Amino acid sequence: MTALTLSTAGASTLRVDVVVVGIAKGGKGPVIAPGAEAVNKAFDGKLATVLETLGATGAEGEVTKLPAPAGYKAPVILAVGLGAVPEKNESYGSEALRRAAGTAARVLSGTKKAALALPVAQAADVEAVAEGALLGAYAFTAYQGGEKRAKKGDKGPKLPLAEITLLGAKPRDKAHKAAADRAIALTEEINRARDLINTPPNDLTPEAFAAVASAAGKENGVKVEILDEKALTKGGYGGILGVGQGSVSPPRLVKLSYTHPKAAKTLALVGKGITYDSGGISLKPPGHNETMKCDMSGAAAVFATVISAARLGLRVNVTGWLALAENMPSGSAVRPGDVLRMYSGKTVEVLNTDAEGRLVLADAITRASEEAPDAIIDVATLTGAMMVALGNRTFGIMSNDDAFRTSLHEISSEVGEASWPMPLPADLLKGMDSPTADIANIGERMGGGLVAGLFLKEFVGEGITWAHLDIAGPAFHEGAPYGYTPKGGTGSSIRTLVRLAERTAAGDLG
Ligand code: BES
Ligand code: MN
Ligand code: ZN
Repeated sequence: MTALTLSTAGASTLRVDVVVVGIAKGGKGPVIAPGAEAVNKAFDGKLATVLETLGATGAEGEVTKLPAPAGYKAPVILAVGLGAVPEKNESYGSEALRRAAGTAARVLSGTKKAALALPVAQAADVEAVAEGALLGAYAFTAYQGGEKRAKKGDKGPKLPLAEITLLGAKPRDKAHKAAADRAIALTEEINRARDLINTPPNDLTPEAFAAVASAAGKENGVKVEILDEKALTKGGYGGILGVGQGSVSPPRLVKLSYTHPKAAKTLALVGKGITYDSGGISLKPPGHNETMKCDMSGAAAVFATVISAARLGLRVNVTGWLALAENMPSGSAVRPGDVLRMYSGKTVEVLNTDAEGRLVLADAITRASEEAPDAIIDVATLTGAMMVALGNRTFGIMSNDDAFRTSLHEISSEVGEASWPMPLPADLLKGMDSPTADIANIGERMGGGLVAGLFLKEFVGEGITWAHLDIAGPAFHEGAPYGYTPKGGTGSSIRTLVRLAERTAAGDLG
């Protein structure tokens, strides 16, 4: 884990491996961003010219290394691009800072200590830089560089930056300190969620996920209750059991309860936790199942949010429901044509076993509804159709309450997560009519993401505000890393959900 400290020391005096400065793209070449004044001075005020000579422009994501000036303890300066220079009187936006800090921390993996001389005039900037740096420093190396390789002299995988110092951020300033503390707690939970998503599905079974949740709950004062396959059978959770019945690793429903004695509101979060989605008997073709360990990203996001709420001591109750199962084809698997009796009592004809997420979520949403929370938000890598609609970096938001959907969209923009509001057109419901059961688990192909949302809506308790986040696109990043986004699990939607909990605690929302 990467350590973060705040310091008002001069950049030249620090015993670090590299000092990071920010540069932006100006009309006439790169411009040195605030925070790096002293470094620039050590270059006789010519750092921008030197960088331009080296080909730097200040474009977002660009990195340029150069030797440190005389008198510096650090041997290297790294200039990271912030993108366009802000308009007059405006400061660098939080997302630009997050991405630049993330890029720097990421490209410095294999290095031990870095000092960041980036713009941190306000506490919000401290938070953004800290968040970006700690997310960008993430690497999943648990399965690389075994003992044998190490013995042959191979050092194994590059390790994340060990220590980051934020220069210009004041350790004795209460707002700066609080911003850094929030960033540390939040990013540790996001990075733990990323670990869970990246862990191969032969190791992360529903039972193993439940065990991780149980241990983290204990550590953070969060109550954890686990329903195993016996308890699920007794309770009549036909959706979760149906999806899990083809696997040798049985399903689990995990309830995480964070409560605050002075809380006025309760949020219920429901996460899709398919530890591996093969498609089941409606098997996915090659090319579509290699990354399906990511199908528990919703549950990972819910888990991270509840633990974050506890670590931050938020004045709101947050209940997390992790619907964990493995979707496998076998002699005991659910078949296309089977009818499941759900926890709600509704019957569902399973016409496609690959539409499994909505089955496990439906049971968990019904169960969550019984406790009459102020709102239910489910999070799921639910449909390929949402990726077709919104691409790989944007999640879709559906809701039975337009104002709530708008709030979630605004919150996600505020925390630097891309999302877009999507409709729930009632006419798509009849496509799920079943000749045999109350409803089928698939409907029209067109608008498949909305069809899935409409299916879930059928299981939301009367009068309860509900939203559905389809994170199929942004949950798992297959391309080259950028900013603070690594390859693999991203931790999508956690920052949005934690901010929602904070806003609810503050009484900002309905
Ligand atoms: N887990 C998938 C959705 C998915 C696809 C997530 C790609 C991330 C990347 C989900 O269970 C699924 O298979 N959905 C089907 C539904 C269809 C059968 C109605 C889909 O989207 O094709
Ligand atoms: Mn599926
Ligand atoms: Zn799935």
